Amino acid sequence: MSKFFIRIAVLWMLAGILLGICMGISHQHLDKQLHVHGLLLGWVSCALFGLVHFAWPQLQAMLTARVHFWLHNLGLVALLAGLFMERRELALAGPFLGSGSITLAIATALFGWSVWRVTAK
Ligand code: HEM
Ligand code: HEM
Repeated sequence: MSKFFIRIAVLWMLAGILLGICMGISHQHLDKQLHVHGLLLGWVSCALFGLVHFAWPQLQAMLTARVHFWLHNLGLVALLAGLFMERRELALAGPFLGSGSITLAIATALFGWSVWRVTAK
């Protein structure tokens, strides 16, 4: 799982930086929140998850590691879609922001619980 977290982190970083460059060139910062959350929850958080799984390999054997990986990344995609729609005042923004945030919170709780269990031993 450590490998998958690091790999997806690099993809989020590339996407976030490309968006940052587009914003810089166009002087159009409408999607700044996508850039910020894609980079902080995508690149920074996933890279940290990867490093934590590397440092505590017991985490990788747990089913929660896979569930966390998918919930975090799918939740993030929904959050980014919601932020994109919110800026354009689209009606579906709310459901996407809500479901994305809750999914991310559940993923984080799962990760926290696993880390707590493994580090208690
Ligand atoms: C080539 C790389 C990057 C470019 C061209 C770029 C470009 C930008 C631009 C144009 C803004 C909008 C500034 C504004 O509206 O005031 C911004 C904001 C921001 N960027 Fe980047 N960025 C890059 C990399 C990164 C990375 C790697 C991170 C984090 C890991 C990051 C985090 C942020 C944050 C947190 C903000 C919001 C700052 C604020 O509103 O005060 N950026 N970036
Ligand atoms: C479910 C999780 C999250 C949700 C729903 C969320 C939502 C939001 C919202 C609504 C804003 C204000 C947007 C605006 O003023 O237009 C914001 C700003 C911000 N968030 Fe988050 N956020 C989340 C997680 C995070 C995390 C984990 C980080 C950092 C690791 C982060 C970093 C930031 C930063 C740096 C800003 C300010 C960006 C700016 O300069 O405008 N967020 N977030």
